[in-house]
Amino acid sequence: MLIRSVSRTNPLKILALAAFLAVPALSMPTVVVAAEQPTLYERLGGYDAITAVTHDVAARLMADPKMGRFWAHRGKDGIDREVQLIIDFIANQAGGPRYYTGRDMKLTHIGMRIDGEDWDRLITHLKATLDKFNVPEKERADVVAFFEGTRKDIVEVK
Ligand code: HEM
Repeated sequence: MLIRSVSRTNPLKILALAAFLAVPALSMPTVVVAAEQPTLYERLGGYDAITAVTHDVAARLMADPKMGRFWAHRGKDGIDREVQLIIDFIANQAGGPRYYTGRDMKLTHIGMRIDGEDWDRLITHLKATLDKFNVPEKERADVVAFFEGTRKDIVEVK
């Protein structure tokens, strides 16, 4: 055996060999792989699912007789751009690999005089969309909670 033959020859060589073997072991980086939870973005089904949900909610809002005022007399391209920014915002906030280039929620909605009833209608439409897409209970609650988290920056009139 290597160790025995070395020890017969010179004990100092054992120490030298041990040190030689220990150095690479000590300098090896320890890789800790954490078991990561899937993000809300992943749990919802990613970009395509978020896009489908956003388009569906937007169509319901624009068809709502009380809320249509927010999109009245606006050009199609401007509305398409807004919907795309909403998709990016949700995907980004839900932990997806999307970069959001729009404004923050307060700055975006300030001056629109969005009131509590507008908000309640939004949440009713959102829930109808989540039903339509059979979103599971946990993800459904997380999406509603996410929307509710933006309320304080969006609703101006109680
Ligand atoms: C009753 C509720 C809401 C109404 C009436 C509303 C209405 C609008 C309108 C009219 C615009 C266009 C603004 C413009 O072109 O300058 C807009 C933009 C936007 N909204 Fe809302 N919104 C509501 C709630 C929300 C919520 C809950 C979110 C996020 C989850 C959101 C995210 C956005 C984003 C990302 C934009 C584009 C920002 C940008 O242009 O930089 N909105 N919203």
